[in-house]
Amino acid sequence: MTDILVLNGPNLNMLGKREPEIYGRETLEDIHARCRKRATGLGLGLEFRQSNHEGALVDWVQQAPEGFAGLLLNPGAYGHTSIALHDALKTLDIPVVEVHLSNVFAREAFRHHSYVSPVADGVVCGLGALGYALGLEALAARLAGERA
Ligand code: DQA
Repeated sequence: MTDILVLNGPNLNMLGKREPEIYGRETLEDIHARCRKRATGLGLGLEFRQSNHEGALVDWVQQAPEGFAGLLLNPGAYGHTSIALHDALKTLDIPVVEVHLSNVFAREAFRHHSYVSPVADGVVCGLGALGYALGLEALAARLAGERA
């Protein structure tokens, strides 16, 4: 089984209650359930982790290659601020897809920059929970290509 680590950053544990007009009414658990469904069809195993703490996310990114073939990351606001996450991602030799539920480019200017995007293989944003499924699909394709 090819295992993917799905990491969610700060405030994403509040999905469902948090600004539903922007992020929708699905909880993080609902999104995980959708991901699990999609992953089964793609032959991927998933592990989900969420933290509000930058250092915890950095630790998990650093350790990801020890147990996972790819990383799907919604860095939340740390995407806009964290050079530490950028540096940690740079050490990885596994594919990384960045995902944002909202279209960050249609929002405040401070959301237009990402420290994650330059060190990710691809970015999905603005497609809500569907973006996670699309990110998994992209990782599966990338990993299949690498194996072929
Ligand atoms: C987000 C977008 C970020 O700007 C914001 O800080 C989040 C969520 C998204 O999924 O749309 O926490 O990453």
